[in-house]
Amino acid sequence: MSGFDFSGKHVVVTGGATGVGAGLLEVLAELGKPKVTVLDLREPTGTHDTFIETNLSSREAIDAAVAKIDGPIAALFNNAGVADTSQREIVLAVNILAPIHLTEALLPKIENGGAVVTTASIAGMAWSQRLPQHLELLAQDGWDARAKWLEGRDLGTTPYAFTKETMQVWTMREAARLRGLGVRINSVCPSPIDTPLVKDFFETMGDAAMNFSIDAAGRMVTGREVATLLAFLGSPAATFVSGQNIDIDNGMRASLVTGMLSFSATAEA
Ligand SMILES: NC(=O)c1ccc[n+]([C@@H]2O[C@H](COP(=O)([O-])OP(=O)(O)OC[C@H]3O[C@@H](n4cnc5c(N)ncnc54)[C@H](O)[C@@H]3O)[C@@H](O)[C@H]2O)c1
Repeated sequence: MSGFDFSGKHVVVTGGATGVGAGLLEVLAELGKPKVTVLDLREPTGTHDTFIETNLSSREAIDAAVAKIDGPIAALFNNAGVADTSQREIVLAVNILAPIHLTEALLPKIENGGAVVTTASIAGMAWSQRLPQHLELLAQDGWDARAKWLEGRDLGTTPYAFTKETMQVWTMREAARLRGLGVRINSVCPSPIDTPLVKDFFETMGDAAMNFSIDAAGRMVTGREVATLLAFLGSPAATFVSGQNIDIDNGMRASLVTGMLSFSATAEA
């Protein structure tokens, strides 16, 4: 058996109403139709069992949601995210504080052999430039301490890019501890995705940078393509894969790293 199947399992998805999360509900329905619990601001239209209306920028709301979720959980998909069109505090809360807090709170309910998968982004590819800062942030204990560390700090890049860097570093950092619990942790790092959020990135990152990425990848990746990779990493088919940030960008980052593609092309465009 490939293990790429969720029959009889329970999975938790954040941000299941639109975009990648909506695609994930479709993919899961095709992969054994597990019990799906969705945490979002809005009720999803896709196949799911339980919707818990949750504002992920609020720790209290997350704690209230966690109290309603029963284990055992086979996979937690930390997928919800917002762009820099939202206020900085909201971006930092939804994209960093929430997935870490939710994972910590649900970890005792995640089964041995289970998985945590986060939707990060290719926008976080420069994490190594700020590795000490990310590790210092992640060493803070709990939501409040991390929020305090972030408050007013010069992040050295945009809030959104910083959050996606942090999630990649967190994915690597947590692998050892979660291995001890029999739980894998990975992230996916998409180039621009054909979802409602992409218009926000055109607004915040500008047409030149966005078109460069889309042209370099050949096109936008679809929500379903990203969802399929999320599902794979969340399934037993991805056994022994942990601590990985998997680009889904049609080779764009690989081309940049090896000099086959240059950002300077953007400046001239
Ligand atoms: N769209 C892109 O180009 C792109 C590229 C790389 C990574 N990503 C990442 O992909 C993930 C999914 O984004 P998407 O493109 O599908 O966008 P989307 O806006 O279609 O979906 C985001 C989902 O998160 C939910 N959400 C937003 N704020 C919330 C909050 N405070 N509480 C609860 N739920 C909330 C929304 O209701 C929605 O269902 C995000 O983490 C995003 O950062 C997106």
